[in-house]
Amino acid sequence: MASLGVNIDHIANVRQARQTVEPDPVLMATLAELGGADGITVHLREDRRHIQDRDLELLRMTVRSRLNLEMAATSEMLGIALKVKPEMVTLVPERREEVTTEGGLDVAAQEPSLRDIVDQLQTAAIPVSLFVDPVSKQLEACSSCGARWVELHTGAYAEACWAEQPLELARLTEATARARSLGLRVNAGHGLTYQNVEPVAAIEGIEELNIGHTIVARSIAVGLQEAVREMKRLVQNPRRDPLFGSQ
Ligand code: PXP
Repeated sequence: MASLGVNIDHIANVRQARQTVEPDPVLMATLAELGGADGITVHLREDRRHIQDRDLELLRMTVRSRLNLEMAATSEMLGIALKVKPEMVTLVPERREEVTTEGGLDVAAQEPSLRDIVDQLQTAAIPVSLFVDPVSKQLEACSSCGARWVELHTGAYAEACWAEQPLELARLTEATARARSLGLRVNAGHGLTYQNVEPVAAIEGIEELNIGHTIVARSIAVGLQEAVREMKRLVQNPRRDPLFGSQ
């Protein structure tokens, strides 16, 4: 059964739109935990467009589940992670022009530098996950970098048209099996919604799904605690043949 990490960047997006103090992602993280979040995920971006340093410092003190820090593999971020000591660091690619994280990390193309960052974090007892597309070449590179975790990018599945979804789902299923055969533990996320999450939640071997935008969007209608509760039910009790089961 997969657990649920709730990404709260989108709450900070609303606050930053007005450059003010509300809504406060720190307070909202507590509500997400009360709704059943098994972890809280934040992405501290180089341009600080949503999550701020202050948020991360306070979350470190208030999060009672697990804090997962998404960050670019830069020396500035490495210094912050070593100071904050989150329960996990997820290394992601970052481009200033992007609206959200667009593709997975090209681990294969930057193995030596990533190996060094992974090593420094792991030496400080911080588990490291690498956010990658669900392809063998990248998974093998993650393993050679010394990482013990990967987060599979579910964006291609989430964006696929109905006819192509089974193919993308099969890619995620195969990548999960391949990662595990390499000794890697597997999380997944990006673009998952209340409508498309169940097939991914049903994949054997995925330990945690990181989900943000859809939960924050739903929370406008039903409140964050309830939005997390509804998602947790789907993640923990997915229909077994969800792509076709209801037809
Ligand atoms: N996982 C990673 C690595 C991400 O960068 C994001 C987006 O910030 C998510 C999961 C969550 O994606 P979404 O907001 O589309 O649920």
